[in-house]
Amino acid sequence: MALRNIVKEGDSILGKKTRTVTAFDARLHTLLDDMQETLIDSNGVGLAAPQVGILKKVFLVDTGEDVLEFINPEILKTSGEQTGCEGCLSVPGKYGIVTRANVVTVRAQDRFGEWYEVEGEELMARAFLHEYDHLQGVLYTARMERFMTQEEIDELNSGDEEE
Ligand code: CO
Repeated sequence: MALRNIVKEGDSILGKKTRTVTAFDARLHTLLDDMQETLIDSNGVGLAAPQVGILKKVFLVDTGEDVLEFINPEILKTSGEQTGCEGCLSVPGKYGIVTRANVVTVRAQDRFGEWYEVEGEELMARAFLHEYDHLQGVLYTARMERFMTQEEIDELNSGDEEE
């Protein structure tokens, strides 16, 4: 496994669309393993392949117990609404106020190509939608009301987690 370099906002790769994964092979597994190591090393909640310079439909979300792997994900269902703080490993040191669905059901393939479904609420729903957006070339900054002020960030006192 190896750490991969995280692409930062301003790099055009973050605005590009991604390709469907068709080969569930050793190369994909290496990418997933490297992304997991990079995500954990960065203390992030989620990481999408374009953030490491790879234009494939792949993202990871750390649930706190487990790192879920999403390959060729589709959003099946959304409900409710939440407005809150959101960050991104590609936009270091900043947080924005973003409104998202509160419950999200995603269908995706695992690293062996098997389809599965997972439902996320609150932070997990936010993470699924944030990472899914990366695969469409969309950053949260395009959806946010505004950046949070330093005072608001200090109040949150949880600036150690980014998506
Ligand atoms: Co992000």
